[in-house]
Amino acid sequence: MYRTNTCGELRLSDAGKDVMLAGWVQRVRKMGGMAFVDLRDRYGITQLVFNEEINHALCEQANNLGREDVIQVKGKVNERECKNQHLPTGEIEIVVNELNVLNSSEVPPFTIEDHTDGGDDLRMKYRYLDLRRGCVRKNLELRHQMTMEVRRYLDSKGFLEIETPMLIGSTPEGARDFVVPSRMNPGQFYALPQSPQTLKQLLMVAGMDRYFQIVKCFRDEDLRADRQPEFTQIDCEMSFVEQDDVIELFEGMAKHLFKTIRGVELTEPFPRMPWSEAMRLYGSDKPDTRFGMEFVELMDVLQGTGEFSVFNDARYIGGICAPGCATYTRKQIDQLTDFVKRSQIGAKGLVYARVQEDGSVKSSVDKFYTQEVLQRLKETMQAHAGDLILIMSGDDAMKTRKQLCELRLEMGNRLGLRDKNKFSLLWVVDFPMFEWSEEEGRLMAMHHPFTHPKDEDIPLLDTHPEQVRADAYDMVCNGVEVGGGSIRIHDPELQDKMFKILGFTEERAQEQFGFLMNAFKYGAPPHGGLAYGLDRWVSLFAGLDSIRDCIAFPKNNKGRDVMLDAPAALDQKQLDELNLSIDIKE
Ligand code: AMO
Repeated sequence: MYRTNTCGELRLSDAGKDVMLAGWVQRVRKMGGMAFVDLRDRYGITQLVFNEEINHALCEQANNLGREDVIQVKGKVNERECKNQHLPTGEIEIVVNELNVLNSSEVPPFTIEDHTDGGDDLRMKYRYLDLRRGCVRKNLELRHQMTMEVRRYLDSKGFLEIETPMLIGSTPEGARDFVVPSRMNPGQFYALPQSPQTLKQLLMVAGMDRYFQIVKCFRDEDLRADRQPEFTQIDCEMSFVEQDDVIELFEGMAKHLFKTIRGVELTEPFPRMPWSEAMRLYGSDKPDTRFGMEFVELMDVLQGTGEFSVFNDARYIGGICAPGCATYTRKQIDQLTDFVKRSQIGAKGLVYARVQEDGSVKSSVDKFYTQEVLQRLKETMQAHAGDLILIMSGDDAMKTRKQLCELRLEMGNRLGLRDKNKFSLLWVVDFPMFEWSEEEGRLMAMHHPFTHPKDEDIPLLDTHPEQVRADAYDMVCNGVEVGGGSIRIHDPELQDKMFKILGFTEERAQEQFGFLMNAFKYGAPPHGGLAYGLDRWVSLFAGLDSIRDCIAFPKNNKGRDVMLDAPAALDQKQLDELNLSIDIKE
């Protein structure tokens, strides 16, 4: 036996007990004739004490310990003279009478402390050391608690946890697939699932009624703070349900998580916002509703009412009102202008109008507009003395709204309105069924090709497909899409029609989705579902800036695992076995 207790366990009530502990040396301090060692494991830190006068050799041994050595000690629990109120074990120490070094450590490349001196790349290369840090470990503990609560909730609602294969064919979720060559089938490839979408639908045809899986999904797409190439979904599907049934059940799960993990009781139903309204008011299908500053459309006020050709030629003019920001300096406004002109945002410029203390309006386009028009602007924006109105325009309404959305979020940051401890949840509903893809030159499914159109919009499929809305819904929390799903098509004829609108020939639809279409011939129940992004939920609850921090071994922003040094080239023997030859194009 290595230990009788963990390093986080012993209290004053244990004083006098003989114990054995094992763990890592956090640090060693020499003080007079004494040596103090902080011993750490997953559960906490316990102070060990060695007295030169009592056992000189043992104390010397302790003094020679290095950071991160793995040791085992035997000793007696003693009440501390100098108590540490910040540590749960801070009232006791272990007076050691035996010390065994189980493994010595090289000097670690960075300090294993919450405030470490290690940079990002170094910590990722030595992720196993990074994970020893309490602040990182607690994210994994939170992740564990959340998956336990997810399982508890779904089990209580009759869901079965069923695994689906990782080596499958291509799944259409709109990103690129990661593919795996098959040795036994030369020239053929598996794809890793972007999600188990079609498989969970087959489980509904199979009569499983309620399925869930906490499952890895793989998408070869550009990475961002809330995107990893492999990430985890809480993937669910239900039979004999309509949109309201799914929303109710998964809103229940969100509330369960808030209650059990954060201790927050959410009693009100989450608001539901049609996609068109989210775009109109926030320029985003995942609006951050922790703060207002909604868009106000200004075409009526500013187009044709002055000589400013930029506005007169625009297809969209919109503004936001930043409360109390009229005193922004020239430099601050220039910073904002530079911000919206950055290549990722791509706006041409920014117009501002300050509402002065006397109610008059002073703007960067004063020479083009009369004070009367500017007063109308103030009224339309419902701006008050001291407010700053920020206006953007463009010839593509959607694009301009997205740019204005970035500005709104930036102002939210600057004004401290995006408090990580405040949570604002909503459902975005009534998504368009299709979106036009410039790249592909055709309509693409906004969600995926199996999404059911709204019943009342089905007649529009033949005439105005771009106007058709879907029975699709996303859950949004603090501007993050934490989940999304839809009611699925279960009628083979309607599914056929969808594939046609999406530009699939009959052969290609059969080739790619024949298995699903065939299954639908044998009695598919009406069904629908949703997938939550587990990494996003955990990082929201942990207040993290990136989902990377709640993943044990994440990839960097180039999709590399710097610890494993993957991806890497294969040796020739492996390539030959797989019948692959490499020809990298410039
Ligand atoms: P969707 O593509 O919306 O839906 O994904 C569901 C949820 O998964 C999370 N997510 C991600 N998290 C981290 N990194 C990524 N690259 C990433 N991509 C997605 C998001 C998102 O809301 N099959 C459908 C679900 C369904 O219809 O039931 C699907 O995969 O939180």
